[in-house]
Amino acid sequence: MNYEETLNLLSEYKQSHLLQYWDNLSDKEKEILTSQINDVDWSFLNSMDKSAPKKASLIQPLDALSIDNIKEQVISYKSTGIKAIQEGKLCLLLLAGGQGTRLGHDKPKGCFNMGVTKEMSIFSLLMSNTLKIVKEAGTWIHLYIMTSDINYDDTTEFFQANNYFDYNPEYIHFFVQELNPSTDMNGKILMNSPYSLALSPNGNGGWFSSMNKAGLLQKIFDSSIEWINVFAVDNVLQGIADPIFLGATIESGKMCGAKVVRKAFPEEKVGAICKENGKPHIIEYYELSEEMTYQKNDDGSLAYGFGVILNYLFPISRLKETLDNKMPLHVVKKIVPYINENKELIYPTEPNGLKFETLALDLIHEMDDCLVFEVDREKEFAPVKNKSGVDSIDTARELLKKNGYEL
Ligand code: UTP
Repeated sequence: MNYEETLNLLSEYKQSHLLQYWDNLSDKEKEILTSQINDVDWSFLNSMDKSAPKKASLIQPLDALSIDNIKEQVISYKSTGIKAIQEGKLCLLLLAGGQGTRLGHDKPKGCFNMGVTKEMSIFSLLMSNTLKIVKEAGTWIHLYIMTSDINYDDTTEFFQANNYFDYNPEYIHFFVQELNPSTDMNGKILMNSPYSLALSPNGNGGWFSSMNKAGLLQKIFDSSIEWINVFAVDNVLQGIADPIFLGATIESGKMCGAKVVRKAFPEEKVGAICKENGKPHIIEYYELSEEMTYQKNDDGSLAYGFGVILNYLFPISRLKETLDNKMPLHVVKKIVPYINENKELIYPTEPNGLKFETLALDLIHEMDDCLVFEVDREKEFAPVKNKSGVDSIDTARELLKKNGYEL
């Protein structure tokens, strides 16, 4: 695209400010800027349109398999799960494309050191949890790792420098998710240099289509793999490739599985699993009415009392069927570094912009039903989201210690 064409395109979307530094750019910089503008999927701007009426929906509680129920069947679940792993039916997906802005660490979140007296990165903790199952099952499990253009090099170099944490590198497959522009609060795309847009990863829900674009899916479709265990990088107690979870999901005959924890208190800020119009759904804490927040089941437990921890089992066959469905983009207020009018790069401390993200919860909605699988939060849920306070490095370190880790 030449200057005129680029300007026409940008004018159409009211973004011509992106060319404000054009006259002072080198040829190379002009090329970078036009190519970034050319790559933008402008449909992201539609997600800012709040005028579309929201469909009426019926929200209902969804029962969970409790820790006590699981204990009763644990032998059977475990042997079903281990057998499925040995038959090559499971693969893993680590979602590590996020920017971790709340943590404010300048490297990928997985490289963050949880150790105090020794090196213990988040990646090393996750990989050692996975290796335990590999050893128990006596077979390697394919592990896909989603990164973004922003953290791909740092992530792959970290794995290489750490000898893949003793995992078989032939079973580790990195891929890159797409980026979307971030805007200010009024929908104007922010820039992080005079010749580049502030781009950020497009959320944690679009991984299946990103895997497809990376050419990874055909091999999975042609293999024995039936299930994919999807999990977040930022839970340092993450139970990965859990044979009991896999076995319980298979035995339940349900289409997918979601690990959940019992809410610590009714107002806890976690997404709660429920049904929407009969389909599995995750309702955000701010979407729950006061009545629903405190609503009880007959046994006195909270009706919307199970929070998701971003650890799911999805069936490959269903994902294949839904591959062409475009995931909705959610507008999320986040911190976006940008250049000010003096071309200085500013790192805000509070959310200053909008990111456009697909969310894993929309994938759940594509499933007919879901096994809700309760885990002990003290043993399996230690999120590292913030520098301090709730869900922070300190709270996660405490939980690691409680679980016998020497930091
Ligand atoms: P979060 O929603 O906590 O986002 O990600 P984040 O970008 O890591 O952190 P903040 O909000 O900027 O502080 C939950 C999980 O989803 C992954 C993250 O890596 C994490 O495992 N994720 C998030 C992606 O893989 N891609 C994304 O675009 C966003």
